[in-house]
Amino acid sequence: MSDRTMARQVLLFIWFLSLSSALGQVSYSIHEEMAKGSLVGNIAQDLGLDLKRLKSGKARIYTGDSVEYIELNKERGVILIKDRIDREALCGQTTPCALHFQIILENPMQLYRVTVEVTDINDNAPMFSKAEMRFEINELSSSGARFILDRAIDHDVGRNGLQSYSLEPTDNFVLKFQNLPDGNKAVEMVLQTPLDREKKDHISLLLTAFDEGEPQMSGTMKIHITVLDANDNAPVCLQSVYKTNIAENSPKGTVLTTVSASDADQGANGRISFSISSTADKAADIFEIDPESGVVKLIVGVDYETSKYYQIDVQARDEGGHTDSCKIIVDVIDTNDNSPTINIISKSSQISEDSKTGNVLAILNIQDLDSNESGKVNYGFYSLVTEGDLDRERESEYNISVTCADEGVPSLSSSVTLSLQISDVNDNAPVFDKSSYEASVQENNTPGLSIFTVRASDADFNQNARVSYILEDSSVKGVPVSSLVSVSADSGVIHAVRSFDYEQIKDFQFRIKVQDGGSPPLSSNVSVKIMIQDQNDNAPQVLYPVQSGASVVAEIVPRSADVGYLVTKVVAVDVDSGQNAWLSYKLQKATDRALFEVGLQNGEIRTVRQVTDKDAVKQRLTVVVEDNGQPSRSATVNVNVAVADSFPEVLSEFTDFPHDKDYNDNLTFYLVLALAVVSFLFIVSIIAILSVKCYRWRRERMFYKSGANLPVIPYYPPLYADVGGTGTLQHVYNYEVCRTTDSRKSDLKYGKPCSESIISLDSSGTQTLTHAQRGKLINKEFDDQVRIFISSLCSSLQHFFYCKSIQTVHTCKGETEL
Ligand SMILES: *[C@@H]1O[C@H](CO)[C@@H](O)[C@H](O)[C@H]1NC(C)=O
Ligand SMILES: *[C@@H]1O[C@H](CO)[C@@H](O)[C@H](O)[C@H]1NC(C)=O
Ligand SMILES: *[C@@H]1O[C@H](CO)[C@@H](O)[C@H](O)[C@H]1NC(C)=O
Repeated sequence: MSDRTMARQVLLFIWFLSLSSALGQVSYSIHEEMAKGSLVGNIAQDLGLDLKRLKSGKARIYTGDSVEYIELNKERGVILIKDRIDREALCGQTTPCALHFQIILENPMQLYRVTVEVTDINDNAPMFSKAEMRFEINELSSSGARFILDRAIDHDVGRNGLQSYSLEPTDNFVLKFQNLPDGNKAVEMVLQTPLDREKKDHISLLLTAFDEGEPQMSGTMKIHITVLDANDNAPVCLQSVYKTNIAENSPKGTVLTTVSASDADQGANGRISFSISSTADKAADIFEIDPESGVVKLIVGVDYETSKYYQIDVQARDEGGHTDSCKIIVDVIDTNDNSPTINIISKSSQISEDSKTGNVLAILNIQDLDSNESGKVNYGFYSLVTEGDLDRERESEYNISVTCADEGVPSLSSSVTLSLQISDVNDNAPVFDKSSYEASVQENNTPGLSIFTVRASDADFNQNARVSYILEDSSVKGVPVSSLVSVSADSGVIHAVRSFDYEQIKDFQFRIKVQDGGSPPLSSNVSVKIMIQDQNDNAPQVLYPVQSGASVVAEIVPRSADVGYLVTKVVAVDVDSGQNAWLSYKLQKATDRALFEVGLQNGEIRTVRQVTDKDAVKQRLTVVVEDNGQPSRSATVNVNVAVADSFPEVLSEFTDFPHDKDYNDNLTFYLVLALAVVSFLFIVSIIAILSVKCYRWRRERMFYKSGANLPVIPYYPPLYADVGGTGTLQHVYNYEVCRTTDSRKSDLKYGKPCSESIISLDSSGTQTLTHAQRGKLINKEFDDQVRIFISSLCSSLQHFFYCKSIQTVHTCKGETEL
């Protein structure tokens, strides 16, 4: 080394020595990066040297220890590029950049200085050291915030060096340059427009560095900015008002709606929780909201009747404390969950059966808490009125069921039952079981005997139905009916007041009135007929032949009489009736039983065989008359029969009868006397009857007429007449059947009276009686007197005529023929 340092010093010396011998200096300018062998300059020419000199001088290039980029071509006298010249490598940023070397010639030593300036070409683009840069910037960073960016490097110089930057896009950031002490510029990115993560959470920028070379070159770097979230956004409900509805009585947990809200922030800043703000209507107690999902549910039942709608205030809150609120309007839908209620405001539990149609029985108030169709009744007053006529006897009690139904689906209803009693009004008269009554009672009953019972019923109630029986005043044959029967007011039992006699009264009629206890009382009446039944309490009575102790009556039978000759007829009556009056005749004793017989039914005594001479003139028959009663009663009669051809014979025979002599002696006297008496009595009675008739006739005018024709029991003797004046006693038995008013029952036949006057007397008597019947009791008794008198008169007359008939047949005959 020290040798080299010595040499250098020598050379320096030489250089200074030779400086005086340096002939010239040339400069050349070339571009960098020229190809090898490229011509730099014609040095020979420039230095004014010829080629020989170069050769002879052994020209060479001296560069010191520098890299030889240039070579000398001695043949051509030019210098050429020997190696690639990179200006940047050679000079870096220094300018100008030049290669300095010498060309040395020997013989003589000559030294030429050559300078080759290497000019820059734009062969380097600006370059960033990193391909990208990353930033995380809070969105809330304020404008003006700076961010240092990496610089680009361009090895070229001058215009080819780094000239400018651009940043794209320029929405948020701008570039700013800061001069550095080293003369470089720092590149900064300045926030100009605030960031919004919610709009753009990532920004990509491209930083480009430019030179101004020809061609221009550039380099880029990507800048990635992540915008960091800040809780700069409040939650926002999607709707400010939610409307929903819910049917009342919906089950718990029914979902009403879902509230949604959004928060533009991220993560926790955007995490929303919902809550129900407590409000006056206690919505928070009724509804719940899921804090996360916003689902609103029912937690207790809702009742339309309590609240028709609810307003729920929902708050949405993010974790940063920002809130928003919204409302949920919940309409409660009515369901038909209330039955109508019926309130009885007033009612009458009893109503009279005669009350008018339209009578208000009750006033009802009907209410339904539901609304609309399901509660259409809502509120109203109703009255329950009678629509038709009431009748307690038809229906005494009503259970009126009032049902009220609403129109909901399904319909609800409720009902009340009103019990209504119909009170009685005396509107029904008592009614007898039968329209008329008939009863019979045996005669000779004990007084007080209960005959039978009438019964009446009354459809009314209680007092109005309490019946009492009253015997209507009337008279039977002039006797007040109350003296015959009585009726028990309570029981309706009819009692006989006295013992009845069939022979006096066969039946009678009266009316019984029944009356209820109403006010005014109602009544009705019924006719009662009492029939008295006959008892066999009367023996038959023989009318003919007349039995008198003193008189001897005989029937004459001619000896020539044929078989079956009617000798006589026993006539008997029985005042009883029916079987009790059904008489039969029997021959009890007879002088000669073989000669006579008695008709069982008719009492006719007839011959059984031819009368012979041997038969005694005087025959005596005992006939017994029996009725058919149980037990039967009987009467006997003796019949004298004279079997003779002539009256004297008879007489002579019958003088034998005891008392006959006396009888004959006194007969004429008796007859005369009797005739006189009878005539007298007859006249008296005629006068009496006429005056009675006259009196009756006048009374008649004053009394009403009654149609009842009570039977009279007259009995009249049969008429016997001997006909034929020839001496032969030819009996013409003038026998006529005479039916009385009673004959229908008794079948008893009576002979017709022979005397016209008696008939007229009788008929007038009958008539009188008929009239008498219409009268009062006094008349009736009077009638009875008269009748008895007439009967006895008639009997006397009959006896008289009969007696006469025996002795003065002709007289009688003449009358009969009339
Ligand atoms: C009752 O309900 C029907 C439908 O359900 C509706 O159209 C009507 O308006 C309602 N009426 C009232 C009075 O609310
Ligand atoms: C009415 O109701 C009452 C009590 O329930 C009952 O005793 C009575 O028999 C009813 N009447 C009618 C006519 O149904
Ligand atoms: C008896 O009833 C009839 C109707 O049946 C009536 O015409 C008559 O007047 C009543 N008689 C008395 C006395 O009440």
